[in-house]
Amino acid sequence: MRRSVVRGVGGYLPPKRVTNADLAKSMDTTDEWIVERTGMKQRHLLAEGQNTSDLAAEAANIALKNANITADDIDLIVVATATPDHPFPATAARVQAKIGAKKAFAFDVNAVCSGFVYALSVADQFLKTGQATRALVIGADAMSKIVDWNDRGTAVLFGDGAGALVLEGVDATHPDFERGVHSTHLFSDGCHYDLLYVDTIAASAKQPGHVRMQGREIFKSAIKLIGEAVEKVLAHNAITIEDIDWFVPHQANLRIIEGISTHFNIPMEKMVVTVDQHSNTSAATIPLALWEAARDGRIQPGHRVVLEAMGGGLTWGSALVVW
Ligand code: ACO
Repeated sequence: MRRSVVRGVGGYLPPKRVTNADLAKSMDTTDEWIVERTGMKQRHLLAEGQNTSDLAAEAANIALKNANITADDIDLIVVATATPDHPFPATAARVQAKIGAKKAFAFDVNAVCSGFVYALSVADQFLKTGQATRALVIGADAMSKIVDWNDRGTAVLFGDGAGALVLEGVDATHPDFERGVHSTHLFSDGCHYDLLYVDTIAASAKQPGHVRMQGREIFKSAIKLIGEAVEKVLAHNAITIEDIDWFVPHQANLRIIEGISTHFNIPMEKMVVTVDQHSNTSAATIPLALWEAARDGRIQPGHRVVLEAMGGGLTWGSALVVW
C-alpha cells in the first residue's frame, strides 16, 4: 500500500490586477453588483503573449522550490486546464519543456472547475501503484482568453492563474504514511453540459469560442452537488466536520461557499477563501488557495484538509488530504 504525500505547493498570478472599478470603465457593471452577487473584488489577467503553460510553469517552479527538489526529480506531470495553449500537444508537455522535467511523462485533464480534484485523483492512482514516484499536479487556466468581454454576466466572474502541488508516493513503512491523499471522489453528469460550456470549437484559432453559462441554474445545483461530494468524503473516511481543520472549496462565488458553510454548519473561519482576491480561476482556484493558506501558516503539517469543487460538465468532486 502506498500513499501520495504533499511535498510542496506553489502558485502564480499574472501581475496585471483588474479591480471591479476597472471593469466598470469598459462595461455596464458596478463594484456593488459584483461584490454583492459574488464577493469578488479583483482578478489577475494574463499579459499579451502569455499562455496557460506560462502560468503553470511559474507555479510548478515555486512548488518544486518549496519541495526542495528539482524538475529532474519529477516523473509525472498532470495539468488540469480547460484553456490549453493549443488543442494539442497537451499543456502539460509545454510545461515539461519550460521547467526542464526531462524524466517525466505529461498529459492534461479537462474537468473545468473540478479539474484540480480530477487531476489530483489521477496522479494519486499513478503514485499509489508505484508507476510514478514524484508528481507535479497543476491547475492552470487563462479564462480571460475565452470569456465574452461583451457579456457582463460572465466576464466579471473569472480570473487567470495557476497553482501546483508536488506529491510523492511513500509506502506503509514510511513515517509520513499517515499524511497525504486519503481519498478522492469524482462525479459527473453530462446531461447538464448546456449549463456551462464554450460555444465554438476551441481548435479554431480565429474563433476560440466563449463561455456560456446559465448562472442561476449552476448556482442552484452547486450546493446540492458539492454537498453530495462533501458527504461522500466524510462518510468514506468515517470523520465529521469537527475532525476537519480546513475546507478548501472551489472559488466560484462567495455566496456558494457561504451556502456550503451554512448547510454543513462549517464555521467560515475554517473555509479558505480567495475568491475576493482572485475571482474564479477555474482549475487553479484550489491549488492557489492551498498555496495561500500554506504560506501564511494556516495549513500546517498534519492538518486534515477537505477539497471540493463543481464545474462544467457538469463535474464535481472532493478529496481528503492530510497536509
Ligand atoms: N453587473 C450588473 N448587472 C448585471 C451583471 C453585472 N456584471 N450581470 C448580470 N447583471 C444583471 C442581469 O442582467 C439581471 O438584470 P435584470 O434583472 O434587469 O434582468 C440581474 O443582474 C440579475 O442577473 P442574474 O443573472 O439573475 O443574477 P444572479 O443573482 O443569478 O447572479 C451570478 C449571477 C453571480 C452569475 C450567479 O448566478 C452565480 O454566481 N451563479 C453561479 C455560477 C458560477 O459561479 N459559475 C462559475 C463557473 S461554474 C463553477 O465554478 C461552479
